[in-house]
Amino acid sequence: MRRCVALLFAGVSCVSCGGESTEDSPTQPAITFDDAFVFGAASAATQIEDDNPNTDWYVFTQPEADGGLGNHTFVGDAVKGYSKALEDVALIEALGLDSYRFSIEWARIEPQRDVIDEAAIQHYSDFIDALLAAGIKPNVTLHHFSNPVWVDDPRDIECASGPTDANLCGLGHPEGGAMVIEEMAEHAQLMAERYGDRVDDWATLNEPVNYLLASYGLGTFPPGKSTLFELLDQFVPVLRDYVSAHAAMYAAVKAADDTANVGMTLSVIEFEAARNNAPSTEPLDVKARDDAEYVFHYVIADAIASGRLDSDLDGEPDEDVPDWQGTLDWLGVQFYMRAGVTGEGLIPVLELTPCFDTFDFGACLEPIDRSFCVPQMRYEFHAAGLGKILRAFHARYPDMPLVVSEAGLATDVDERRAENIVRVLEQIGGARDEGVDVRGYYYWSLTDNFEWAEGYGPRFGLYHVDDDSYERTPTLGADVLTDIATSRSVSSALRASYGGNGPMTPDPALHPEAVLCNQ
Ligand code: IFM
Repeated sequence: MRRCVALLFAGVSCVSCGGESTEDSPTQPAITFDDAFVFGAASAATQIEDDNPNTDWYVFTQPEADGGLGNHTFVGDAVKGYSKALEDVALIEALGLDSYRFSIEWARIEPQRDVIDEAAIQHYSDFIDALLAAGIKPNVTLHHFSNPVWVDDPRDIECASGPTDANLCGLGHPEGGAMVIEEMAEHAQLMAERYGDRVDDWATLNEPVNYLLASYGLGTFPPGKSTLFELLDQFVPVLRDYVSAHAAMYAAVKAADDTANVGMTLSVIEFEAARNNAPSTEPLDVKARDDAEYVFHYVIADAIASGRLDSDLDGEPDEDVPDWQGTLDWLGVQFYMRAGVTGEGLIPVLELTPCFDTFDFGACLEPIDRSFCVPQMRYEFHAAGLGKILRAFHARYPDMPLVVSEAGLATDVDERRAENIVRVLEQIGGARDEGVDVRGYYYWSLTDNFEWAEGYGPRFGLYHVDDDSYERTPTLGADVLTDIATSRSVSSALRASYGGNGPMTPDPALHPEAVLCNQ
């Protein structure tokens, strides 16, 4: 039977509590991590860098009066992470971390097609040197949600006269798609040639499914194309091009540096079957949940593992993609939320934002505890979901090293960030104890930053950034992570204060009386 999935993102709501009634024993033993385990923090160029006008995000969000498209909040100078890059190394060093995951802005390196900015190359080179001098290993992401404008100009998405050097018409375009793949591979090769002597760890793509759904599925990210309702005819070709770009980038990095460790990161979600805004065991809802999991977690990784793509998303691979096979040395999983999926109605619906309902699709689930709602992002953080997902990935890809390449929480409440860090590491520690090969953890994010379509509201930073002065101030999360990274353990005391599965410190941004799901 066809397993085709139509996904709808909704701003939805949820109700409260219930509590997962886990009676944590008063003293939990410390969780220790060996020296090979990597503690890190992560960021992405577009989200932090100033003076960055050649990205698609810049023109997509720039006010119309200034020549942009005026979508969402203007990215502007973000948190001045380009001009402050060398100073910010001290922030990472102070945390005692082993590694920093960051992305290189392709639009800065190649502002126009085939025009390379050597000053930008030098900037990232100096940054990498500064990290290494501070004892911090760089982990470089090559493509994290942003493009140079010339890849697929959001101001000309019809691209009637393209592809041209000024607009390649983007992924999925009958002629332009192949050009984009080639350009991404050339960029990856250049980066590996220039930095491969100092960078061992690379990621090609960040969260491909999420990124493509937003940028080419729903059009909420640049270039702003909406192809989701032409799932197989339009969206799958985009996905095919993007993963082909991954494979080409993998090969290009390896050609320049055969010792490179090249991976990809995936957004993972704890999916639950739902109906009428409550957990469901109805076969249709269970299938919808499994389909969502398949598309988000496994379609790409399965194809890379087997060299066969399931191009009609029916659960059976049908297309040979031999160039993809084996192009992963590690897999990043990035965990933030639990979400309901229902098979009720004409199409399955996935509700990613269950805390605060706008629409009622019936897939909104009560949070396991009301305090798990993350009001700044309108979803639920449920730590135990990560443990389940790590075990499932290990069972499916037993030889694949896993890295929790992002986990974090947006809040102004210090204790909640500390709770997120300790609870995520408890899940990682538990999975490792069972033999799951998790090799590292990166907190998202080093500093507050630009949260894409959500603008500057959500604050994920270990360091709070002042909106006017850009001053960086450590949060309690920074102190807790420093304790953990320097001792290489989550102590009993930290577990007692912040760990477990019980209620978290409430976030006053969620009104105590607020009704969440439409019940
Ligand atoms: O900010 C994003 C990041 O760019 C990709 N992963 C999720 C983060 C938090 O939403």
